[in-house]
Amino acid sequence: MENDRRLSANVSRDEAPRFDEPVQAVAPTVEERVEPVIGSPRYKEADAESMAKRLGMFVVEAPRGRLKDLVVPESTLRQLKSLLTKIKYQHVLYEDFGLGEIDPYGRRTAINLYGPPGTGKSFAGDAIANELGMGMIRANYAEIESKYVGETAKNIKAAFQKARATNALLFFDEADSILGRRLSNITQSSDHAVNVSRSVMLLELDHFPGVTVFATNLASNYDTAFIRRILGHIEMPLPDADCRSRLWRRHIPGRLPVQLNDGEWGRLVSETEGLAGGDILNIVVYATAIALEREGVACRITLNDFLLAIDASKRAKQEVGAPKNSNARITAGVGRTGE
Ligand SMILES: Nc1ncnc2c1ncn2[C@@H]1O[C@H](COP(=O)(O)OP(=O)(O)OP(=O)(O)O)[C@@H](O)[C@H]1O
Ligand SMILES: [Mg+2]
Repeated sequence: MENDRRLSANVSRDEAPRFDEPVQAVAPTVEERVEPVIGSPRYKEADAESMAKRLGMFVVEAPRGRLKDLVVPESTLRQLKSLLTKIKYQHVLYEDFGLGEIDPYGRRTAINLYGPPGTGKSFAGDAIANELGMGMIRANYAEIESKYVGETAKNIKAAFQKARATNALLFFDEADSILGRRLSNITQSSDHAVNVSRSVMLLELDHFPGVTVFATNLASNYDTAFIRRILGHIEMPLPDADCRSRLWRRHIPGRLPVQLNDGEWGRLVSETEGLAGGDILNIVVYATAIALEREGVACRITLNDFLLAIDASKRAKQEVGAPKNSNARITAGVGRTGE
């Protein structure tokens, strides 16, 4: 732990080494094509170089979202705040109150945010990092997965290593791909690699003293070993009417030239039942474009512009996004309530 503290104190976000500049492809010399022998100086050099490149895959970002702007039900917010308190008062819990005696791995905090697309999981990850004053490393599955056997596990290790060195919060998007059940019926080497990656993930999680946040639309795919290691599972549900009302207010900046009376604001809330905050964001942008296209920069965005954009959003979900046999169809159509 002491080491971790020293590491994080020494490596500032700006100073963190960057290895993500494009590398010029140069044909290898014969000497370079010969595999270095394990343990030889050249092997160590090659290994260090490959780790350096791996670390460069993960960049520490400054989080943007704030907890006060996160629109969730009161019970969800309370859950989130309890977890933040656990992290902020870690030393009190584990040293002063003696929890370290019963919970040797307790210094880690893993949080799982699950819910439908656009409900604010990424936003909440940002808000958590912001609240803790930490930088954030976003590690998504596409970046971590590698088609070469064994590479995925190395990339997972690198993500944790970078987070330790920079004291950043580690955010795994599409976490169901990484935390999925281990396979019991192994038929090919790629199955074995999947299990190796998942075992490495378990080990890294156990020994990582920092904060890890997972986000998924498919938490039911998680391996139970991961479920147990995650302290807080927080549902990010589709917003109810009260949350939608707050989301609408939050997504319409004071300078946006909207023309809406009180009843029309209520209509926006009722028309967007079944849609998420991410949809409301898109609807606002689209409605603004519709008004601008019609009237130019002196435009007024009216209820009708919003209804057109809401209709487009519902249609897109129904025709593009929804599974073919989905029963959860959203009523599309301008002027219909959809409630
Ligand atoms: N609960 C929320 N509170 C505040 N803003 C929200 C909320 N949900 C969505 N938004 C808005 O929608 C945008 C997109 O949300 P976000 O990317 O966090 O959703 P997500 O759950 O991560 O979606 P996905 O599952 O597709 O990754 C946010 O940047 C924010 O503007
Ligand atoms: Mg997301």
